[in-house]
Amino acid sequence: MSGLKKGLTSYGDAGFSLFLRKAFIKAMGYSDDALERPIVGITNTYSDYNPCHGNVPDLIESAKRGVLLAGGLPMVFPTISIHESFAHPTSMFLRNLMAMDTEEMIRAQPMDAVMVIGGCDKTLPAQIMGAASAGLPMIVVPTGPMVVGHHKGEVLGACTDCRRLWGQHRAGAIDAAEIEIISGRLAPSVGTCMVMGTASTMACMIEALGLSLPMAATAPAVHAERRRIAEASGRQAVALAIHGGPGPCDIMTPAAVRNALVVLQAIGGSTNGIIHLTAMAGRVGVPVDLAALDALGRTVPVLVDLKPSGAHYMEHLHHAGGVPALLRELAPLLDMTCRTVGGATLAEVAAGAETVPDQTVIRPRADPLKTSGAIAVLFGNLAPRGAVIKQSAASSALLQHEGRAVVFDSTADMAARIDRDDLDVMPDDVLVLRNAGPIGAPGMPEAGYLPIPLKLARAGIKDMVRLSDARMSGTAFGTIVLHVTPEAAIGGPLALVRSGDRIRLDVAARRIDLLVEQTELAVRSAAWKPAPRERPSASRGYAKLFETSVLQADQGCDFDFLLNETPGDDQ
Ligand code: FES
Ligand code: MG
Repeated sequence: MSGLKKGLTSYGDAGFSLFLRKAFIKAMGYSDDALERPIVGITNTYSDYNPCHGNVPDLIESAKRGVLLAGGLPMVFPTISIHESFAHPTSMFLRNLMAMDTEEMIRAQPMDAVMVIGGCDKTLPAQIMGAASAGLPMIVVPTGPMVVGHHKGEVLGACTDCRRLWGQHRAGAIDAAEIEIISGRLAPSVGTCMVMGTASTMACMIEALGLSLPMAATAPAVHAERRRIAEASGRQAVALAIHGGPGPCDIMTPAAVRNALVVLQAIGGSTNGIIHLTAMAGRVGVPVDLAALDALGRTVPVLVDLKPSGAHYMEHLHHAGGVPALLRELAPLLDMTCRTVGGATLAEVAAGAETVPDQTVIRPRADPLKTSGAIAVLFGNLAPRGAVIKQSAASSALLQHEGRAVVFDSTADMAARIDRDDLDVMPDDVLVLRNAGPIGAPGMPEAGYLPIPLKLARAGIKDMVRLSDARMSGTAFGTIVLHVTPEAAIGGPLALVRSGDRIRLDVAARRIDLLVEQTELAVRSAAWKPAPRERPSASRGYAKLFETSVLQADQGCDFDFLLNETPGDDQ
């Protein structure tokens, strides 16, 4: 074990460097005994701006206890924290910054293993991207889902019901006083959104990948069990520190990444999960193939009955046996020999799953919620490098649809026009939003959930085909085609659509096409100029780095210079 000696910059006198390090750390009151132990770094992402991480101080205390009980020395260090609602212009813009911060702090400071504690949508992906590149053994402790809310006898979940109830408010069915009351009930505790949104999706995929202990994805944020999971993770982190592994590459193998894709489909997971898994796996040189994801989608049933695809919430999934029980049900579709950070194989994790009689949250394969998977990947002349649709959360009547395009050139254009009475729009039209991709917006905001134009919403229209190069919250419902790649801002075919063109969505054939002659498209392409940006091109700082380095959605929106096939290497 290397402990405090790790990463010493000796400049010719290693003994003196260690002496200095000890002298300074002793200012915190540490004894020599403490400093000779294996060191477990623990990220601190607590922030007053991040209620999804509101329990991080408790989890850190529990994690430290676990590390100490196992004979290690816990060292807590801060990194950036990102919350969905408080990250301007979008949390996705900051994900790679958090990944860089996490990676460099792990590299810079002496530690033998790292515990990353996070939960809100972008944080666990960022932390795993960073820790994987740093190459140190890691164990993930999600902050865990909120408990459910209640209003007028109805169970509420953030933020699937946020959208539904706000939609009712827009349509005049819920008045201003009631929507105010509802805002106090949608998120009744600290923790992450408790539907199968991006945070829950990532936590479940990460558990299936083997990066966290069993039940770590689902235990509610405020339950004592979550604190015990943090304590157990602290103990396990010491074992990782002592044995020097398994490391991120040993866990995130191609087979494990494929397992995570199976789980993504089976949980009716968020489309954002594809982008984040691509970015995480990209850090260990494992590609995520959209065609392979689609192929899995045709064979993997949706088994987990959670909103927005189904009816229940994360705490119900937990009480039904959590991810281990799901893995047991999915076993024939998974590589159960993959090892996990807790030391067990996936088969051993599944064998230890609780059997809960009569539970209805994790369906048997013989009686799935949907026979085929949550997410379909579309190709076509509008999306040469792919687009995705979460068909489990779409209207089945719209999965085969042809309609007239109503184009919005940017999120600002959409905001300015979508609710106007004179907008030329009909229920059968296809709403198109462009210049909302990784570079266009920038940061690929969750703008893909285009609202139903007010005049149609008032007439009772609940869903329309919507199409964009943006992302969408994993908590949303609708027939919505996302991640159209390449994006319009770099001249992707989406840039060539005009209002009035016809667009055909054919999910069964996995196609999204613009029904315009190729010769006409060539003319339009020759005349194409980038649309004026909502914000000017960045001239400095992180925004400039982002604009010049961000990859498209099919490459996980990572920065081009951060992909690394040999993790653990020094730069
Ligand atoms: Fe943090 Fe939903 S806002 S998980
Ligand atoms: Mg979200």
